[in-house]
Amino acid sequence: MVRNSPPIDRVLALLRDEPANPDTTRGYLDLLGPEADRSPSLAQSVMETTFLPKIYERIWRPIGFNVAKGWPLGPDTATEHAMARDWLFLSGDPATVLDVACGPGNVTRALAKGVGEEGLLIGLDASHPMLTRAAKDTTDPKIQYVRGDATDLPFRDATFDAVSCFGALYLFNDPWAAIDDMTRVLKPGGHLTILTSRHPAIIPTPGIARSLLRRTTGFKIFGDKEVTNALKDRGFQDLKQHRYPFMQLVGARRPH
Ligand SMILES: C[S@@+](CC[C@H](N)C(=O)[O-])C[C@H]1O[C@@H](n2cnc3c(N)ncnc32)[C@H](O)[C@@H]1O
Repeated sequence: MVRNSPPIDRVLALLRDEPANPDTTRGYLDLLGPEADRSPSLAQSVMETTFLPKIYERIWRPIGFNVAKGWPLGPDTATEHAMARDWLFLSGDPATVLDVACGPGNVTRALAKGVGEEGLLIGLDASHPMLTRAAKDTTDPKIQYVRGDATDLPFRDATFDAVSCFGALYLFNDPWAAIDDMTRVLKPGGHLTILTSRHPAIIPTPGIARSLLRRTTGFKIFGDKEVTNALKDRGFQDLKQHRYPFMQLVGARRPH
């Protein structure tokens, strides 16, 4: 890690293909450029509106996610953030961490105190409005934002000590490709933590209803074992899972 260089140089040093003219004009490194070849789902399009980032962190996130996590019995936002640092093994030692689909940077900033002053925390998202908000709300130079695709991460293999992906796996066109790529960029022995949707077994929902939801909105509801099995299949160890009514928190370690 290049510790004393400008923060953006530390990010560029982690890329598979360094751009000839890095675009940081909006306060984040834009690696996607023009939108022409993207066709976001309905759910992804909501994330691209300029209105949502304004209410996301204070209203949308706490209300929507706390209900899905079973408020008042499930973890509130502060407890969720503490669990994230704990499951990612961020104890204040210098670490290089990637927060995939960071939105307005709410979880990214919450991880910052776990990475030490010399650490580097990169939030990656595809949405301009979300990243604009993230850059506006972040003053800590060890946090940097990148516009990129979660299913085709722009980083070198075995780069990060920890990778998080909160509240987003269910939006990706190909969540399994995203898990493959998160695995690829994680160092051996590094930790991955995912907060995603969960289909509650006590509410029988015909598969056809779930696939209709997926097809019409892009939103995927994962079964209890789908994500843990995907991690087992990729060799992850020390698997942990907390199940909430409509969400699940899954953590694991990439083997050495
Ligand atoms: C609900 S927000 C999650 C924000 C934050 N991680 C949290 O837990 O509150 C979901 C984010 O996923 C992003 N997203 C969706 N598909 C993506 C993709 N293929 N690549 C990168 N980001 C994506 C959206 O732009 C949005 O900002």
